Amino acid sequence: MAFPDAWLSELLSKNDIASVISEYTELRPKGGRLWGHCPFHTDKTPSFSVSPDKQLFHCFSCKAGGSVIQFIMQAENLSYFDAVRHLASRANMDMPEEINDRRLVEQKLLRERIYEANRETANFYYRSLFSEAGGGARRYLEARGVNADTAKRFGLGYSPDGYDVLYKHLTEKGFSRDVLLSAGLVVKGRKDETKTYDFFRGRLMFPVVSASGKVIAFGGRTMAHEEPKYINTGDTPVYNKRENIYAINLLKGKKLDDIIMVEGYMDVISLHQAGVENTVASLGTALTNQQARLLKRYASKIFYAYDGDDAGQNAMIRGIDILRSAGMEPRVIVIPGGKDPDEYIKEFGRDEFMILKDASITGIRFKLSRLAAKCGTDTADGRQQFAIEACSLISKLEPVERDRYIPYVSETSGLSAATIREQCGLSQATPSANDPEVVSRKRYVGFKRPKRDSERTVSEKRLLSCIMSSAADGLAIARSKLFSLMLFTSDSMRVFAARLISEYESGKNANIPLMLAGLDAEGSEDVSSAYAQADSISDPVPCAEDIMLKLTVNALKDELSELSKRSAGAGSADEKERALNEYKEKYAFLQNLLKTNVRK
Ligand code: UTP
Ligand code: MN
Repeated sequence: MAFPDAWLSELLSKNDIASVISEYTELRPKGGRLWGHCPFHTDKTPSFSVSPDKQLFHCFSCKAGGSVIQFIMQAENLSYFDAVRHLASRANMDMPEEINDRRLVEQKLLRERIYEANRETANFYYRSLFSEAGGGARRYLEARGVNADTAKRFGLGYSPDGYDVLYKHLTEKGFSRDVLLSAGLVVKGRKDETKTYDFFRGRLMFPVVSASGKVIAFGGRTMAHEEPKYINTGDTPVYNKRENIYAINLLKGKKLDDIIMVEGYMDVISLHQAGVENTVASLGTALTNQQARLLKRYASKIFYAYDGDDAGQNAMIRGIDILRSAGMEPRVIVIPGGKDPDEYIKEFGRDEFMILKDASITGIRFKLSRLAAKCGTDTADGRQQFAIEACSLISKLEPVERDRYIPYVSETSGLSAATIREQCGLSQATPSANDPEVVSRKRYVGFKRPKRDSERTVSEKRLLSCIMSSAADGLAIARSKLFSLMLFTSDSMRVFAARLISEYESGKNANIPLMLAGLDAEGSEDVSSAYAQADSISDPVPCAEDIMLKLTVNALKDELSELSKRSAGAGSADEKERALNEYKEKYAFLQNLLKTNVRK
């Protein structure tokens, strides 16, 4: 049976794949994924991986894979329906026929109402910034060099310094207390819970706007020397700070070569005002996988420019790993003198900042220099420690990439390049038994013979991956002259592609993990392994065109050879003639196809 999407989606969010699977096999994090021994076969090396970000599992050895539902089907030997029931009871949820749909409808209405309240609030704060009460905030902005145009572009505002100025305003506008509490705009009194206070009072306000242009949260900065400096909207039914990026709304419709990631609201604002308009912020938290995927939709080159303090530098190290595992190549802009980007660009201007950007270093090079600073290279012990740790880091890279860093490691450690190379070889020859990066490279040493895909299946999977990359790419591919659903010989992939494209066309936010969860075990393997590859394709549209051309040409060639056999073995002159005519037609079509689609 088909379960309602909203219900299934709640089921999935309450049964996080990592926590479910951890009940069956021990998982350890590595490179943005979790790894363990596959529960479905004797697995000496951990070749079983779980992606918390995509909510999928995949065994590199036996090729089992899918969502948490397919996992339970296989682990507990249950039907699809029973696996869903199993997960529902694990999450304390009623099965859909037993719940009243009213709750889901109410949740949706609540979200809509919160968006409206947030929009009204942003307008209210904005107006109060330019009212008499906002004089202090305007002077504060001026002192920090933010001009009125910029304030307007970012919708900055001022939250009046009374107990319930906003609350009264919104109540007059017809918003209920419950909605405003859920939105995090007001809070209950600590002593007297019937009292209601504004959450933001007397602060400079920064609305956080989603990619689709909705106001989803606020940050408020004190203008005195108060702690905390910023307060922010907590998680609400419309906002999860782990999934959003500040100023992502301003990237829309721009052709971007790259994106600059900074830490704070003020850094973004300052850089935009100085003309560096591809700047966004992760807002103080370490970057998450969801944020990395969001960024990737806009550009695959990311420049990190976090603050020069330890917190900023350490956050970059974690972020670099996350971006790399999402298939991006982060670079780091090192800002001298421990300044933050806001201070630097104000003091030295845009051009100097762009020079720093040109002088940026790769994420790996940045990690190596932090390592050198940590070990201390003034002493022989420190240099040796650095060499060991640096080699262990770079030995995990592809050999071509590794070679770039050998001179730096050699120079910094004072050891010869040959020694460093040897050390890297050593670190490689003695992998720790559960090092998944090593395991994944040797994934065919399993016991069960891995299922090998035919060339055709590989191409179809790749085509599906391209379509899954994003709605824009998926639609562009579907509208290509070469596209036809019939290119998919696999039923599960064809049906999945059809459904996905129709979701894209309806302008809905296609929830791929949710769609995957609805597939049976057999169908889910191909589709989920295609989804697992989607991130690694940098140019989905041209890539898909190449595949479609190849598949079409192969299909035509098959038909031609079929027709030539038919004409040779034809019983009558009439039949022979028909086959030949068809052959000529198809042949001309093929020639034309090849002529108009030669790639440089
Ligand atoms: P910063 O302290 O670097 O803030 O913190 P900033 O944006 O440069 O602010 P100014 O220049 O002092 O005005 C970086 C980010 O961390 C979050 C905010 O999102 C901030 O922009 N943060 C910081 C908080 O949420 N709360 C705090 O108390 C401090
Ligand atoms: Mn700052």
